[in-house]
Amino acid sequence: MENVLVAVAYLTSAVLFIMSLRGLSSQESARRGNAYGMIGMGIAIFATLTASFMSSYVLIVIALVVGAIIGQRMAGAVAMTAMPELVALLHSFVGVAAVLVGFATYLGSSHAGTIFEIEIFVDVFIGAITAAGSVVAFLKLKGSLSGKPLLLPSRHMLNLGLVGLCVLLAIPFVNATEPGTASVFALVGVTVIALGLGAHLVAAIGGADMPVVVSMLNSYSGWTASAAGFMLSNDLLIVTGALVGSSGLILSIIMCRAMNRSIVSVIFGGFGGETTPKPSGDAAAAPAGDIQETDVAAVVERLTAAKNVIIVPGYGMAVARAQHKVHEMTEILKDAGINVRFAIHPVAGRLPGHMNVLLAEANVPYDIVLEMDEINEDFPETDVVLVIGANDIVNPSAETDESSPIYGMPVLQAWLSKFVVIMKRGRSTGYAGVDNPLFYHDSAHMLFGDASASMDGIVAELRAKAPALT
Ligand code: TAP
Repeated sequence: MENVLVAVAYLTSAVLFIMSLRGLSSQESARRGNAYGMIGMGIAIFATLTASFMSSYVLIVIALVVGAIIGQRMAGAVAMTAMPELVALLHSFVGVAAVLVGFATYLGSSHAGTIFEIEIFVDVFIGAITAAGSVVAFLKLKGSLSGKPLLLPSRHMLNLGLVGLCVLLAIPFVNATEPGTASVFALVGVTVIALGLGAHLVAAIGGADMPVVVSMLNSYSGWTASAAGFMLSNDLLIVTGALVGSSGLILSIIMCRAMNRSIVSVIFGGFGGETTPKPSGDAAAAPAGDIQETDVAAVVERLTAAKNVIIVPGYGMAVARAQHKVHEMTEILKDAGINVRFAIHPVAGRLPGHMNVLLAEANVPYDIVLEMDEINEDFPETDVVLVIGANDIVNPSAETDESSPIYGMPVLQAWLSKFVVIMKRGRSTGYAGVDNPLFYHDSAHMLFGDASASMDGIVAELRAKAPALT
């Protein structure tokens, strides 16, 4: 009877997890999706704790309380812009947990058959890759390690060799009739090699591909959990791991498409570390002249004379926390009868959906927030484009300069509009570390300064003009 209840609870949790993923696919239903996920996890934990194999609750309660406090503190303290770092770090915990559970299961078990041992071996292998890869991704995202890819000579052969060594180590491990020196040595060996492989795989990936890497590590952590589920004969862990693994893989593929990158080349690295822009023959792509500076008064004059305005938010808007001011400006312009819309690039900011989250937090209505594909053709008919703290996602060399590291990534064609205002603090490059010919374009005007201060100025000036606008 108890088994049936646990099975029903697990099935309910699995359905809730699927509903959670479904809910997370759109802004309107994302809160509901999160709630489904939390309820599903609550049921899963409760069902597991009531199962008969539980002998002591003391350690479990200590782990739950300490884990909850640390998790709450970390999530509460993290800046939105540092979220990918936190996600990468959390993935490393999944990997470490898988390795530890693998060792504990092996050392605590009697010989339970070849399949069981293969499950342990695979769990430890994927877990160690996930752990080390996530730590390297965390350090790269944090800036403690260079964003440049580490390109060792014959690195693909090296990776293949390491995988081959692991396969060789699997033989004595699976052949051992019970845990002994040789088999434990093999398990330690595969852990060390897989840690090196995971670190090397991610070290070879350049900074510009880190968003996909974080999503791929999410996928790896799912497969790790699934492998642990087979090892522990826990159906819910298998299903949940497969859900995380496949959704992470699908997200990685979607992101690769958005950046026009092949998933295989991202995983095996070597891209995204170049920092020196190379000139191209195309007029739009080549930095061809001086920049034009503008000021708040001139921008407001342009805005109030416009019929169509597109706002392109990027990482800088998140850093400046300018989204509330941007919303205020949007409302003033809309009240004045100006058509204002937002153009969201799939990898704007530092995590998937970053801009959507910030705009939703500032109560910007969803119907004026459009995806790249929905709005990119409208730039030529747009009077003013405000690029707020965005850089790579409006870089024309992605379309025209084959030597650019971001060549092939679809970008928002802001330069085709009549007047582009680029708000940033100085002349530094964006995440990919490449120069942006948009800044030298005839239609482009730089409004230097922190995006929050610039937005304050624009809103104040618009408010002063407001009676005349309506
Ligand atoms: P970026 O290309 O990184 O450009 C952001 C710009 O914001 C910088 O040029 C910076 O210039 C400016 N900025 C920073 N702080 C500012 C502030 N307080 N006020 C005003 N401007 C400020 O950002 P993007 O255009 O959003 O493109 C995203 C990039 O990040 C892509 O290369 C993408 O591949 C990568 N990435 C994306 C993700 C995901 S999943 N979205 C994850 C990791 C990496 P100044 O320093 O001169 O101000």
